[in-house]
Amino acid sequence: MNATIKSIGIYHPEREITNSFFETYLETSDQWIRERTGIEKRYFSLENEYTSDLCVKAVEALQKNHKTDVQEVDFIIVATSTPDQILPSAASRVQAKLGIPHAGCIDISAACGGFVYGIILAKGLIAAQTHRKVLVIGAETLSKAIDLSDRNSCILFGDGAGAVIVEVSSENHIFNALTDTEGNLGKELFISHLSETVDGEPILADRKMHQNGRAVFKWAVSTLVKNIPILVAKNNWKLDDIDFLIPHSANIRILEAVCKKLELPMEKCVESIRNYGNTSAASIPIAWYNGLVSGKIKSHDQLLLIGFGGGLTCAGICLENNIVLEKVD
Ligand code: ACO
Repeated sequence: MNATIKSIGIYHPEREITNSFFETYLETSDQWIRERTGIEKRYFSLENEYTSDLCVKAVEALQKNHKTDVQEVDFIIVATSTPDQILPSAASRVQAKLGIPHAGCIDISAACGGFVYGIILAKGLIAAQTHRKVLVIGAETLSKAIDLSDRNSCILFGDGAGAVIVEVSSENHIFNALTDTEGNLGKELFISHLSETVDGEPILADRKMHQNGRAVFKWAVSTLVKNIPILVAKNNWKLDDIDFLIPHSANIRILEAVCKKLELPMEKCVESIRNYGNTSAASIPIAWYNGLVSGKIKSHDQLLLIGFGGGLTCAGICLENNIVLEKVD
């Protein structure tokens, strides 16, 4: 059974946080943040605004952009590292809030790779002919999981959500995929929860994000430089066949380093880092949507989506863009 993606919607909270916010209480500067990360601003959710709320707003936006009946969705996948609660899943909360009857619901915990993992699983459900219309959402409220006193990490992250529907189609527009994990590097980036050790080493179980920025940076560049050509070859493409690369937006310097090493022009790289910060599982759909709105990404363009992050894990997929925005707010 063939699968395609025809609809997309995104949402970011209203509270805009510019780099100057961090200058008021940390030893940092707008210039340092722009130069070292590319970030100009990000959005933080309100105190009582959680990941499932952002998911619902992204689906509402999707319904404004496209004539599609969300009530027909038969499976909901939410990729997030910041669910409202560990149990029930954010997906179950979204199902209840949207009143979608009888949909299967799961969350995926694959950090910034989560959205691509979601598409891979949705395509699998459709290929297995068990489901016909799968809602895949990448959403985060990372502002609730950052230590605002840690200048190495708090300046990086933002909140947001992006939703797409993967559905049965007469033609196939979702092609080959790749997944890769180096679990032994898990300690380099984690949000602590119950365990007080990671890889046998004691940690502070404070439910906050902890990362070794330099180690993650190095791993991200080498993983993308290794995996993008493997995925392209798996799909019988050449690097030149990629119209647009949509990598997870973690740091503009990671994307620049990858494009330089692969000799891909930066103009082919669609990012969301400048205006949203690192929104983890939401960063790829946000970049995709903005690429459509700007007119950069067009129908039938060949896209390579690749996410990477906590795990440390990575997932990529090749697809043909079949999304046309019918009405943009
Ligand atoms: N403002 C000013 N100075 C700072 C700041 C800041 N906000 N943060 C760090 N510095 C300082 C450091 O203390 C250090 O000072 P020192 O030389 O006196 O020790 C100096 O800047 C350089 O520090 P580095 O860590 O080498 O800086 P780097 O250029 O590597 O940038 C950063 C740090 C932005 C964290 C970068 O390493 C990065 O982006 N790493 C990848 C992060 C990432 O991709 N995370 C994935 C998360 S996705 C997910 O799964 C959730």
